[in-house]
Order: sequence, then C-alpha cells, then structure tokens
Amino acid sequence: DAPAQVAAKLLDWYDVHARALPWRAPPGAARTEPYRVWLSEIMLQQTTVAAVRGYFAKFTERWPTVNALANADDADVMAAWAGLGYYARARNLIACARAVARDHGGHFPDSEAGLRTLPGIGDYSAAAIAAIAFGRRAVVIDANVERVASRLFAFADPLPAARPKLRILVDSITPDERAGDFAQAMMDLGSGICTPRNPQCLICPLRDPCAARAAGNPETYPVKAAK
Ligand code: ADE
Repeated sequence: DAPAQVAAKLLDWYDVHARALPWRAPPGAARTEPYRVWLSEIMLQQTTVAAVRGYFAKFTERWPTVNALANADDADVMAAWAGLGYYARARNLIACARAVARDHGGHFPDSEAGLRTLPGIGDYSAAAIAAIAFGRRAVVIDANVERVASRLFAFADPLPAARPKLRILVDSITPDERAGDFAQAMMDLGSGICTPRNPQCLICPLRDPCAARAAGNPETYPVKAAK
C-alpha cells in the first residue's frame, strides 16, 4: 500500500473503534483543550490508561484550567498525584503550569518547538500535544507506535539504536491532516489488537499492508538489541 493508504485505513478504523477516553473529543467534535491533552499525556507516561482515568477526573474537577493549576499549592498537587508514581512528573507539572500562566498568558505554545521549552515536555509529549491539541503534523512515537510500525514494515534493525531509522518510516506514513487522530489510532491499535503477544491480525485494519503478518512472524517485532 502507498503511505496514504495506510493512514486512510487506520483513520477509517479509528472513526469506528477509537476508545472513548475522557481526554479525547468525541468523533466530529472540536479538538480537546490543550490543557486536558497536556495533563493526560503527562499522566500517561509510564502509567496505564486504566490507572490514569480516575486521576485525570480528579485533577480536572479540582483544577479545570492551567491557570487554576498554576495557582494551586504544591502540597495539594503532590497529594492529589500520590499513587501515580514518578513524582518528578508532578513537580514538572506544577512548574509547567506556572510557566504557561506566567510566560504564555495561560495558553500553551502551539508548536513542537515551543512546547519543548516547557518543564517536563520532551520530544514525545511535544509531538503528541502539537498533533492532538493543535492539529499540527508531528511524528508521535511511543512503545505502542514502535511495535505497530516495526511490524508493519518488518523492521529488523535492533532498537534502541535503530530508532532514528524507524522514525523515518513512521514519518512516511503520518498524514498531513489528522496527525493527532493518526497517532492515537496507532496507540489504540497497539494496545488492543497489535499486542506484544497474540496480536489479533484477523481483525487488524493494517493486515493487508503488514509485512510481519505476511511473513507470519509479527511477535518477533520490535527487534531489541541483546542486553
Ligand atoms: N497513551 C499516551 N497517550 C495516549 C493517548 N492520547 N491515547 C491513548 N493512549 C495513550
């Protein structure tokens, strides 16, 4: 399939099967506020969707805007974060909210480069927020995307060394429009169908273009360097 066909197949699937998550706009609705996208992406680093749901609800009820969070007491935010782990994320969350409030008038920067200047926002989060919240074309790669893409291309070079090369392949199938939906579709596919073990290739929207499925060995990807 041509790259555009891969994206089209995935987006068609996503239009029907996207997980309904509290930080996602319903299909056809306006995009979710950047604050909610940012908060969810920070929470979802190293933490499962199931664990994040309750915390996301609690935070957005208590601090509905980035300015509200910027004005919160550190101790209250740290207490609300308790249980999510990786507490550096919570420290950066507070610092980031204050930077957005103080330096950006309460508005998140709308580009990857602008987002990357903020505390706690690295390459992954900047790409995810730019694409999901602002509709920018950005190449978003997390562990699920890495697995889906390495199978699609039967990418045999060992990770992590070959990440830059895999990134070029993900870039090649990322659409100009709907890059945020595309990224989240890759994540949903990786979490529900293109799973590490027993991938459900029969119901996968990318079964035809998938090189690993054609070779009959999807579980061998992604290839990891020997430790
Ligand atoms: N993991 C990280 N970000 C996500 C998102 N936007 N949707 C689903 N899973 C995710």
